[in-house]
Amino acid sequence: APGAQRFIPPGAESLDELRTAAADCHGCELYRDASQTVFGRGDESARVVFVGEQPGDMEDQKGLPFVGPAGRLLRRAVDDAGLDPASIYLTNAVKHFRFELRGKRRIHQTPDRVHITACRPWLVAEFARLRPAVVVVLGATAAKALLGPAFRVTRQRGELLPWPDSAQHPEDFRGVPVDSAGKRADTPPAQLLATIHPSAVLRADDHDKAYEGLVTDLTVAARALA
Ligand code: URA
Ligand code: SF4
Repeated sequence: APGAQRFIPPGAESLDELRTAAADCHGCELYRDASQTVFGRGDESARVVFVGEQPGDMEDQKGLPFVGPAGRLLRRAVDDAGLDPASIYLTNAVKHFRFELRGKRRIHQTPDRVHITACRPWLVAEFARLRPAVVVVLGATAAKALLGPAFRVTRQRGELLPWPDSAQHPEDFRGVPVDSAGKRADTPPAQLLATIHPSAVLRADDHDKAYEGLVTDLTVAARALA
């Protein structure tokens, strides 16, 4: 079967073990053209986890998420919202860069549903180890991964949502630890909050307004932790 499930070691306890295993993932075709898997990074005891779309050109080369302009803007917004940029964890819905070659340039392509679904087991495995209080979904791709195709970020951004049923896909749970009572240690009781992607802020006609909107949404996450 396609998908990342079979690359996740069932006994992996730490994010480092997952990261190592993800380097060899062939769960969809995106590994072929990208330089490397870009796994999540950050504070492993973070109470807030941010989920972006996929690594960009720079992230693909460095092997780390959110190292480019979008990441810089995101960290500034996190700080302005009263969250500590040193106490967050950053990851992506899809862990390989999808692009189209135009001459020598690599042009970003939005991942398809098949890539989002294939890669979701890594995300679920990260959540299970991080056990955050709030998962912040950045933009439509991450929203599709966790809230389903009908969710509209523009309509429901900035609202703290209970962990949705649409984020529970039993087939994603290979390698998710069970506790001593045999219960699956997956994400709930995390809450979820969707907002605009920092790249969309960078592209917005009215940059200041888009930025303020992002900060306002993140302030809701900050208050949920207080
Ligand atoms: N945009 C994303 O969604 N993720 C990154 O890691 C970088 C840019
Ligand atoms: Fe595996 Fe995700 Fe990369 Fe596809 S995008 S090969 S599922 S890590």
